[in-house]
Amino acid sequence: MSTTRVLITGANTGIGLATAKRLVQSGADVILACRNPIKAKAAQDELLKLGGSGQVDLIELDLNSLTSVKAAAELVKSRYGSIDVLINNAGIFGESLQQTVDGYEQQFGVNYLGPFLLTQLLLPALQAAQAGRIIHLSSIMHWLGHINPESFQQSSGTYHAVSAYGQSKLANLLFSHALARQLEGSTVTSNALHPGGVNSDIYRDVPKLQYVVMRPFLIPTSRPAELITKMAISHEWSTKNGQYVSAHMPSWQSHHAKNTQLGDQLYQQSLELVREYL
Ligand SMILES: NC(=O)c1ccc[n+]([C@@H]2O[C@H](COP(=O)([O-])OP(=O)(O)OC[C@H]3O[C@@H](n4cnc5c(N)ncnc54)[C@H](OP(=O)(O)O)[C@@H]3O)[C@@H](O)[C@H]2O)c1
Repeated sequence: MSTTRVLITGANTGIGLATAKRLVQSGADVILACRNPIKAKAAQDELLKLGGSGQVDLIELDLNSLTSVKAAAELVKSRYGSIDVLINNAGIFGESLQQTVDGYEQQFGVNYLGPFLLTQLLLPALQAAQAGRIIHLSSIMHWLGHINPESFQQSSGTYHAVSAYGQSKLANLLFSHALARQLEGSTVTSNALHPGGVNSDIYRDVPKLQYVVMRPFLIPTSRPAELITKMAISHEWSTKNGQYVSAHMPSWQSHHAKNTQLGDQLYQQSLELVREYL
């Protein structure tokens, strides 16, 4: 039987690294798609020490740049031909207004548009596998976002960091659902999750006092890693499609997240935004 090949973005730390550990321990081939080669190599070394039977490979991927996303996808396709699982895990929470290389508001660009393009470009590789699974890291914070196309390229003015993060996580969820509708009846599935409030580097920009208050309520990265690993390789998840689950709290979805028209609209808009890279 062939080994399951899983590509996970942002796998050098946090939830991504914890998930990669479980996948390696379960014998999967794991591709770590990371932006920082030094951190990525350190993670690879740590994972290789676990002695899994699969491979642990590295791919350079900076979701801040659509050119980097395209190059990473091309490399994956030429090196492997097919992948069984894509885990869109990498993400940021940014307190200040910044832009991606392509001029998008950074949380929208890194958390959503980059992964949207990566997924589009890797769909043929997932379809080339016997069965493909796509997993999107959304968040309960999607409740605080709404889709505002005028903010996609915001470069000045008042910046609401939490709303921008919420918008990016709502977009992840709408994308997962829209993709699931399109993939219905095919060999590829699309599902999303809220990992819980997790103790990771993502809170590095949060003011110290706020972090001290939050800290006791955060769960370890091993909790979402367990759920994501199940979604990625368990038989139980082999046919589930279009689901939204949570590793910790109830997986309630906002009315925006359930709006299929909004999801289809965002999907078409996003295709337009990345058209020159497809
Ligand atoms: N932690 C939580 O409570 C929580 C709650 C809800 C949802 N989530 C979601 O869970 C996912 C993982 O978060 P985490 O908590 O594990 O955060 P984390 O510890 O900060 O890890 C984030 C990962 O994403 C990578 N990354 C950031 N910007 C990137 C870019 N431009 N290109 C490629 N990779 C990039 C980081 O790389 P570097 O190490 O180089 O920075 C890191 O590997 C995110 O999508 C987040 O939105 C987390």
